[in-house]
Amino acid sequence: MNIESPEVLISEDDIQARVLELAEKISADHEDSSNLVMIGVLKGSFIFLADLSRRLSIPRTIEFIAVSSYGNGSVSSGAVRLVMDVRSNIEGKHVLIVEDIVDTGHTLKYLISMLKSHRPASVKTAALVRKAESAEVDVTIDYLGFDIGEEWVVGYGLDYGEQHRTLPYIGVVKPSDT
Ligand code: IMP
Ligand code: MG
Repeated sequence: MNIESPEVLISEDDIQARVLELAEKISADHEDSSNLVMIGVLKGSFIFLADLSRRLSIPRTIEFIAVSSYGNGSVSSGAVRLVMDVRSNIEGKHVLIVEDIVDTGHTLKYLISMLKSHRPASVKTAALVRKAESAEVDVTIDYLGFDIGEEWVVGYGLDYGEQHRTLPYIGVVKPSDT
């Protein structure tokens, strides 16, 4: 393991400013609803969910869901598998899926249709980062932090082989960093 830190792509200050903007928009959009359920997609969304949820000014509850799409590689297979479901009943509630990053879009598309089958009042999506050029399926992100290129990024919850998740910024990982 190289001890050098990944190169900064999105700084800690830029992330924190954007998370606050997203939280204000989510709060404004949900000011009339008292039953927002934020569903974080493990593991990558845990830091984004923590920061975003603490900046909301509306009532909310927290759930987690886990999916697996890549196996051990970094190339999407397109096949998404549910590893852990939500534990509470989301029927009639306003759901906000909180994702770290949308790459091909397969994971988010699968999650939207899977959660809709539980008959929530609505399903919206938040993602900190999107790789717009990598999209393979059309999926709406209601609250998007940043668009980036096709590079592999780490930090702020995102990993490469389970490394770098706790970096406060989003960085680009080079083969020598791994
Ligand atoms: P998708 O189904 O191709 O959109 O893949 C989305 C998932 O792949 C994300 O939730 C991440 O877990 C993972 N992923 C995709 N690109 C990256 C990256 O650059 N860094 C870390 N994880 C990534
Ligand atoms: Mg993820």
